Parts: sequence; structure tokens; C-alpha cells
Amino acid sequence: MITVPLSYNEIGPDTLSRVLKSYAGRHHEEIIRDLEQKLSVVTGSPNVLAVTSGTSAMHLALQVAGVNAGDYVIAPTFAYVATVSPAIYVGARLVLVDSETKTWNIDPVLVRRAVEKLKHEGKRVGAMVVVHNYGVPADMDELAAIGREFSVPVIEDAAESFGSTWRGKWTGTIGDIGVYSFNSNKTITGFGGGALVSSNADWIAKARYLAAHARSNLPYYQHEVVGYNYRMSPITAAYVMTQLQIMPLLFERRRSIDGVYRAEGKKQGLIFQGILELGGFQPWLTACLLPGSLLPKNVLDKLNSAGIEGRRLWKPLHAQPAFRHAESHGLALSSHLFDRGLVLPMGPDNVTPPAVVSEVLSALK
Ligand SMILES: Cc1ncc(COP(=O)(O)O)c(C=O)c1O
Repeated sequence: MITVPLSYNEIGPDTLSRVLKSYAGRHHEEIIRDLEQKLSVVTGSPNVLAVTSGTSAMHLALQVAGVNAGDYVIAPTFAYVATVSPAIYVGARLVLVDSETKTWNIDPVLVRRAVEKLKHEGKRVGAMVVVHNYGVPADMDELAAIGREFSVPVIEDAAESFGSTWRGKWTGTIGDIGVYSFNSNKTITGFGGGALVSSNADWIAKARYLAAHARSNLPYYQHEVVGYNYRMSPITAAYVMTQLQIMPLLFERRRSIDGVYRAEGKKQGLIFQGILELGGFQPWLTACLLPGSLLPKNVLDKLNSAGIEGRRLWKPLHAQPAFRHAESHGLALSSHLFDRGLVLPMGPDNVTPPAVVSEVLSALK
């Protein structure tokens, strides 16, 4: 039986019921609108759209950023699949780029090389997607500079980095448009749901229109283009609100667990995902490489037999059959991360940090 899950949020029916009661007699759209306002305050982004998932947010982000079928989209190969699937939905072609050695996020040097090559070949680069893997911020100075220089929109996939910062600004709000996820295992959850943020009010207005079946503002049903059913449910919005109320506690809990893993794990030879000086890390999960000849599978088997969950690091997207046709740039590091790394569990959100880490660290020994 698993007693320390990777990342588990207990459902809090009482807090949910309190929020729902506070909206009794009001139109349920108000819950979603209020959540969007709260997210705007919390993230510092002036424009927010609440949607059904991080994946749908990414699908909308690509479209409002102007990515068309046949365009090239630059994305990390070391990432979760949902980062890139929406690029395929819109008919774009993926260019998968390896990580840099410190943060294990997309390497700006390789991104520049990829953009220059594509431009030289006369190909249109529709967007660059940046992921802050496991909550560790990517080098947004370099990546945003490349985006500006080559007029390529930068889409930040901040699904795993809600609360992390770059130069003090929330990840997701630094590029041209940003994506958050509130799925079941995220730090702040709605057991589903996501959000889109941008300083570009027109983009968010367009995404809002597309997310509600592209219905024109007329007294009858009129649709000039094909849209989607991507609006967030009010129940999900209410749940995300309950989580925002306890956000400092949820954040602190993960920071504390990550801190002990790093301090104690270092003594056992683990190598941790690095954080750049300008990055503020709000951990989703703690990612590390194993020392010596230890293999992730053997360590995970050991942890599992002690009731502890862990996961291998992302299997690179270039090695996934689904993306075998994608162009790629420099793949050695992401392959090494997959071969040698794992993520350590955060456990259930109602269990204290010492209880989680003591079990995991003793099993790791
Ligand atoms: C990096 C990344 N992008 C996108 C997503 C998709 O979010 P969702 O599960 O809400 O669709 C996730 C998480 O699932 C993720 O980790």
C-alpha cells in the first residue's frame, strides 16, 4: 500500500461548501469571474482566463499567439507530453530542443541555433514554448531575448511552477502568454482546471471567445469560427479558491520538504536540479540524479516496497513514438536525465514535512 504518494491533495468538502454557500443566490459565473480576479492579483497578470485544464490553456495560447498549421513550434524535449500535444492539435511541426545542464530546462543556446536554422531555411517559427520543469524557473532573460530578437512569441508553460518566480515576477507572466494547471497532483488544485495569463488583453479576450464555442455577442447563436468548450466549471473555480486561501501553507510545506531532501540527499550523493540566481523556486516536486551505478528502477522498487511513490524523470519527447517525426537539437542531456534521475514524493498535503521526509530518506539509505 502506498502511504507516501508522489503528490496528493486531500479533498476538503467543508471549505468547498463554505465557498459555495457564500455564492448562494448569485449567478455561478460570478465564482469563475472572482477566481480570475484573484488569480490576477496573485500572479500579477492583468488578464486571466480560467479554463478546463492546462492542456486546453496551451491549445488556446498557441492559437491566440498566431500559430498556424505548418508553422514550426520550438519546445523542450525534456517535458511532460501535454506541453507539446496542443502544437500537434493545431497542425504545427515540433522542433524539440535539449535541456541545459543546471536547471534541466530548455537550453537557450540550442534554442537560438534552432531558430536561426529554421529562419535560414525560410521556415516560419510560430512560437517557442518554455517549461519550468518541476517548478524550477528556466532562464527567462535569455529565452525572452531570443523571442524578441526573432519576433517569436514566447509561451510559458508554468503548469508545474505556480508560485515560482524569475526576477521576482511569477513564472507564466514573463513571456508573451502563460499557462497554469490545477490538476489533481499540482500544488494548487481544482482537481482539474487551468488558466491562461497575458499582458495582452486582446489575446485573452480572443481566448475567452474561443473557449466558449466562439459565440458572437448577438441575441442568437452565431459562430464565425469554430471554438471549443474550454470554460472552467464553477465547482472547479470554487475549489481553486479554497486552495488560494491556504496557498502560503501549501507552498511552505513543499519548500520545507524540498529543503530537507536537498540537504540530506546531498550527503547521500544525490545531485539535484539546479536553480539559477534570478529564479525563485516554488517546488512542485524535487528532482534528482542518482549517484554511482544506482538505477532509478531499482531505487523506485525499493521505495515502492516501503509504500513510497516516486517517478522516473520525464522520458524525453524525442524518444516517444508519438513524436518520432519531430526535428530535434542535442538530445544527450535529456536522455541522461531519463536514464539516471527520479522525482521524490511530496506525500499528502495534510501530512507534515518531517513525517514525509523521514520515511523517504530512511528508505533511500
Ligand atoms: C508541464 C505541463 N504542461 C501541461 C500540463 C497539462 O495540464 P493539465 O493536466 O491541467 O491538462 C501539465 C500537467 O499535467 C504539465 O505538467
